Amino acid sequence: MCGIVGYIGKRKAAPILIQGLKKLEYRGYDSFGIATLGNPIEIYKHEGKISEHAGSASTLNGTTGIGHTRWATHGVPNDTNAHPHTDCSGRLAVVHNGIIENYAELKRQLMSRGHKFRSETDTEVIVHLLEEKYQGDLLAAMHATLPQLQGSYAILALAAGENRIIAARQASPLVIGRGDGEFFAASDMTPVLEHTERALFLEDGDVADLSLQNVTIYHGGQPVERKTELIDWSFEDTKKGGFPHYMLKEIYEQPQAFYNTVKACPPEILASMIKKPSQVTLVACGSSYHAGMIFRYLLEETCKVPARLEFASEFKYFPPPVNGLVIGITQSGETADTLSALKQAKSHNCWTLAITNVLGSTVSRVADDTVYMRAGPEIGVAATKSFTSQLAILMQMVTCLSDRKVCDLLLHGHRAIEEVLLKDLAPAVDLCRKASSIFFVGRGPFYPVSLEGALKMKEISYIHAEGYAAGEIKHGPFALLSPETPVIAICMPDETYGVMLSNIKEMKARGAPVIALGLEGDSELTDIVDMFIPLPKTHKFLQILTSLVVLQLLAYHTAVTLGRDVDKPRNLAKSVTVE
Ligand code: G6P
Repeated sequence: MCGIVGYIGKRKAAPILIQGLKKLEYRGYDSFGIATLGNPIEIYKHEGKISEHAGSASTLNGTTGIGHTRWATHGVPNDTNAHPHTDCSGRLAVVHNGIIENYAELKRQLMSRGHKFRSETDTEVIVHLLEEKYQGDLLAAMHATLPQLQGSYAILALAAGENRIIAARQASPLVIGRGDGEFFAASDMTPVLEHTERALFLEDGDVADLSLQNVTIYHGGQPVERKTELIDWSFEDTKKGGFPHYMLKEIYEQPQAFYNTVKACPPEILASMIKKPSQVTLVACGSSYHAGMIFRYLLEETCKVPARLEFASEFKYFPPPVNGLVIGITQSGETADTLSALKQAKSHNCWTLAITNVLGSTVSRVADDTVYMRAGPEIGVAATKSFTSQLAILMQMVTCLSDRKVCDLLLHGHRAIEEVLLKDLAPAVDLCRKASSIFFVGRGPFYPVSLEGALKMKEISYIHAEGYAAGEIKHGPFALLSPETPVIAICMPDETYGVMLSNIKEMKARGAPVIALGLEGDSELTDIVDMFIPLPKTHKFLQILTSLVVLQLLAYHTAVTLGRDVDKPRNLAKSVTVE
């Protein structure tokens, strides 16, 4: 994971790098560092979050620099393992996002040739290899070094005495921002948007030479052109805008994001992309996997098209027999497992389609076709608006495969979401914050809704939570039920209503307090549960959205009450670029 940023121009680099790294903290936030080009190179790096040490870091001199925010893979988070890393002489500095898979062997060889290593990171081998090749031209040294590296990397490098940044990309994202008389490099557009909307995306194997005058890109040693694109995200979108947390802002942005996605992805466009598949396979991770599971229920029920859903992390190593359409769902477009699964699917001659939120992300280069969600930047680590926008696209796909039975409905989805944003959840929050464990249960598409509710709860409140298909909870989890293990039951008046009521009674009989989400006016349900959260009476598709949003808010307020860092939960990152 990790985020990297670079700047070359006429302004002081350090504050720009620090500001940029703050925007990338969602990619990792256990330590950070910057290097600026003086003579020698100046470096500041520290364990912990940027906001705690930004003042000292901003004092570095120089108008060219590179920075990094870390999510530890090789070596614990501490000052030494934080990037940038330098060579033995201190003339060269490097930041890196990705994993150098052959680093152990390279390190052994470098040490036998006398190099002194300071950190436990895989990254440090890069800068020592550069040192061996460096003869006053950092670009030449980079070209000579890269063939020795196996794995994934987005690298930014500096050499004392050369006013340039050399960047290289292989399977980790890297974007170059073009300003007026200045250039930026970053893991994604969010740090760049404050300065320019013009960007170009490097391809795997590209090396870029950023100087004060220009950016030149090389591929296979030869100069190549990469198109400059205009990015339609605005800088304002990357600010908290008066909200205490990005997560809350993004929850509240969901009506707009859902509407934008529905409008941007009309059924006719999607129909041309997915045709009439005989079978659909979905690959995804985390929340995106839950979106895929909701889609599977809706597609099979509404369109009678068989769908299979696979964890992307399993698919690569244990690919099932697949054909037809394979859809990779990934808000970041960078999740390593999802990229691998799509490549695997392509090798089986499947038609691959990506659903992502990030323009220019790697998945768009891997899949045969890409649908963009247009949810705008999502900074909070927990997926919220990106999740409902994924559902907007997936529900639109169901629409076009079902001969548009639910077409206009989705155009009103944002109103249903708006209705639940202001729900008073205080009593439910009070129950949850004291819980030792929370179970979320539902049936049909509300089963993945409960999985997503549990995921949101555990990742930001750190309370153990599990989502269960309501009928399964009696096969084991019943042993855990007690007054300290509330159950959140999603109970809609569908074909499972009666059996859900029985399940709720069984759980209550074992001492668990039950909070039910149901449709307003449901007195039968209200009577048997401890707390009832009424949702607007709408179509099933919109019930899915409204119940999800309530569960996001429940997790958010519980986490805030417990004093958690909801935007940057411990040990997590938003973009998981390692397997
Ligand atoms: C991480 C994030 C989750 C996300 C998952 C998959 O774990 O914290 O919020 O659902 O990755 O990410 P993707 O970008 O592939 O949707």
